[in-house]
Amino acid sequence: MNKIAVFVAAGSGMGADAAKKLFKDGYKIAIMSSSGKGEKLGKKLKGIGFTGSNTNKKDLKKFFELVIKKYGRIDVLVNSAGHGPKGDILKISDEEWHKSMEIYFLNVVRAARLVTPIMKKQKKGSIINISTYAIFEPEKSFPTSGIIRSGLAAFTKIYSDEYAKFGIRMNNILPGFINSLDPKKEFIKRVPLKRIGKVNEVSSVISLLASEDGGYITGQNIRVDGGITRSVWEMIKKNITLLGKKFNLPISCLTAYSASVAKILDGYVDIILIGDSLGSTLYGMSNTQGVTLEMMKLHGKAVVDNAKKSMTMIDMPYKTYKNKSDALKNAKKLIQYTNANLIKIEINVKKLNIVEHLSKKNINVVAHIGVTPQSYSDFKKIKILGRIEKERNNLVKLALNAENAGAKAILLECITEKTAKEITSVTKLPTIGIGASKHCDGQVLVFDDLINLNSNNKTPKFVKKYIDFNKISRRAVRNFDHDVKKGKFPNRKNTY
Ligand code: KIV
Repeated sequence: MNKIAVFVAAGSGMGADAAKKLFKDGYKIAIMSSSGKGEKLGKKLKGIGFTGSNTNKKDLKKFFELVIKKYGRIDVLVNSAGHGPKGDILKISDEEWHKSMEIYFLNVVRAARLVTPIMKKQKKGSIINISTYAIFEPEKSFPTSGIIRSGLAAFTKIYSDEYAKFGIRMNNILPGFINSLDPKKEFIKRVPLKRIGKVNEVSSVISLLASEDGGYITGQNIRVDGGITRSVWEMIKKNITLLGKKFNLPISCLTAYSASVAKILDGYVDIILIGDSLGSTLYGMSNTQGVTLEMMKLHGKAVVDNAKKSMTMIDMPYKTYKNKSDALKNAKKLIQYTNANLIKIEINVKKLNIVEHLSKKNINVVAHIGVTPQSYSDFKKIKILGRIEKERNNLVKLALNAENAGAKAILLECITEKTAKEITSVTKLPTIGIGASKHCDGQVLVFDDLINLNSNNKTPKFVKKYIDFNKISRRAVRNFDHDVKKGKFPNRKNTY
């Protein structure tokens, strides 16, 4: 006896492909859709084809009656759906939310009402709903689908609990980006398997859930998404590991160029960076191109010697890593002299070979991408990167290539939020941002900016001044001058 598989809203796409697959598996097929395509396909597959809408109770009833009249039973019901309203979640009207509910939720409820008594009598049946991966990690570009279908997940659980005793199973398939919908190429980057899924990969899971072999599966939300969803918890908690240390919270990093500042930061931030920003910050240079290896060695040692708890990272200065042999020679000098844990180099595509070479020689490299200050003699010319798609794609590619080349972390400077978010999600490495939004795995700032040590009137937007040390210390200096002039300093307490 042929089993009967019924498909609702399945004139095209995943539903239609599943119908073809189950036909090949030996089922008799009945398809309903509003476009007329389901009717055509049903007839082509030598079964029932019916034109009607699954949001119309009468159409649904008529369709199920037709199936029972012809075949007398229903073994499998596959509920597909159309597409609901999209847009800003606060701009979607009440009517549109109600419509979404009709499309993504009541389609299943209504069909389940009709098919359950039939399956109950048979003491067997499998209901499969084509849902979306976005119930776990909602997608801004199709909000009503993710939001309403997470309700469907709850419904499925309760339904399967309730009707398991009658041999009825209900499961949801959660497809990711599947070729039936022509997803944008940029989605591929977000998929761990790095490709769009094929409709037949969804159909084969539907086939399993329909069959006896899938007979022990019920109440589940089964993801066929190339790994795009983790779980909500894992998504929030990207595994941030650096040099074997696991970070449960975002990484904090500040610069220090001296022993005294290192002592202030040690143990309070995760990483202390001896940045070549010392050129402009400490030495008053107009850019970082004048910083030498010798300067980095001396400041680096002063800091690392006083960082007992925090990790340390040091910059390779301008022109010290022009080629592989220079890079290795100078990196070794810097590390041997200072003992810093990580070295940071500013890279572009041409410098990936340096990252690879140093990494192969067991040097822990942090790849600094986005705005790379060593490339600028005039900081006024710096502009935020990643606004244009090509720029964004290139940065994502660069980060992934740096990861493949062996880098231990990526530092992102002055790039758009969207770019930082994408890089952070595609790379397994920790991303540490400066002017790169909150979507990084960590944040770095120049300590002098944080305390407003320099009276620099053009402070970048990404800086947050936690105290105004400039103002406080100026007041102290004026008081000192006043006390000296008035003979109040030194006083008795300051005198031997
Ligand atoms: O040199 C430096 O301080 C830096 C930070 C700005 C990230 O590279």
